[in-house]
Amino acid sequence: MKIGHVEVENGILLAPMEDVTDPPFRRVCRGLGADIVYTEFISSEGLIRDARKSTQKLTIYEDERPVSIQIFGSREEAMADSARIAEEAGPDFIDINCGCWVKDVVKRNAGAGLLRDLPMMRQIIKSVVDNTSLPVTVKTRLGWDRNSIVITDVARIVEDVGAVALAIHCRTRDQGHEGLVSWEYIPEVKKAVSIPILLNGDVRTPEDVKHAFETGADAVMIGRAAIANPWIFRDAQHYIKTGVIPEKPTLEERITVALEHLRNNLEYKGDHYGILEFRKFWSGYLKGLPLAAHVRRDLVVAPDMEVIQQRLDRYQDEVTEHVREQKERREKYFQEQMEVSV
Ligand SMILES: Cc1cc2nc3c(=O)[nH]c(=O)nc-3n(C[C@H](O)[C@H](O)[C@H](O)COP(=O)(O)O)c2cc1C
Repeated sequence: MKIGHVEVENGILLAPMEDVTDPPFRRVCRGLGADIVYTEFISSEGLIRDARKSTQKLTIYEDERPVSIQIFGSREEAMADSARIAEEAGPDFIDINCGCWVKDVVKRNAGAGLLRDLPMMRQIIKSVVDNTSLPVTVKTRLGWDRNSIVITDVARIVEDVGAVALAIHCRTRDQGHEGLVSWEYIPEVKKAVSIPILLNGDVRTPEDVKHAFETGADAVMIGRAAIANPWIFRDAQHYIKTGVIPEKPTLEERITVALEHLRNNLEYKGDHYGILEFRKFWSGYLKGLPLAAHVRRDLVVAPDMEVIQQRLDRYQDEVTEHVREQKERREKYFQEQMEVSV
């Protein structure tokens, strides 16, 4: 499938996530098979004031392409200027956030706030499209609430002003991240426009990815499930191609990827924040492994790379020992059963 000039095989994308989809995490997800990755959302007002928090988010690693920079705002001029600034950072796309549900954002009529004012949404999208040579995409929700589902009108606007794709988080603004997702709107939207439609919301497994494509969506975007398991991209790509879900990653694979991610985090954020902001990823990397709770408890308070590395080395020995003990116990049990039965 094709979005703008970028051709991708299946169209399984990493969703933009504040405090999560920074360059080190995006690199992990691209490496594991995400077809396109998105930055965290970036405030247009912050970008035009050159605020460090916003400009730092423009960093792109060459090996994570194709990557989209996501911006948000409610003033046309600020969005136009920030589109130019974002373009200088050299992404493959610019994405406009019209779906953020957070109070501080919507009260300024940005993010999902624009779902209450479609003429304004049109102007905002147009101001970005008119001020960049890059392909522009939009990410939004079904509507403000259940009584105001406007997604088909939004899709027509997005296409009409020249944006090249629309990602739909299949919830309304008042649902936040909870409650049922409504993928059933996708076929209706697909009928109304010819730009690619990207389905988002509660895609958690390779089977979900397949079902999501069955709605007619051109691509599927994964958020939270990737934090808990970045291998979802590898697994879903393989499942779509072959119908087979690969074996779970081994302990060694998980530790290798986690440490590489952590090293990139330290390089990107410095030693202190690199360690601190990595803590949210440990439970995902260790999920389902034997003795995971113990090691996770130690890793989330570990102060530096050396302590982490030592703890993980010890953990690998503990797991080897644990597996050996379990095997012995099983063998002893079968032996006893045999003795009883003879
Ligand atoms: C921690 C977190 C941060 C998020 N930040 C953004 C963001 O910056 N921009 C955006 O468009 N959506 C953001 N979202 C919404 C996700 O992109 C996605 O639409 C939502 O999580 C539903 O998809 P999922 O069920 O696959 O997680 C965020 C979600 C989470 C959980």
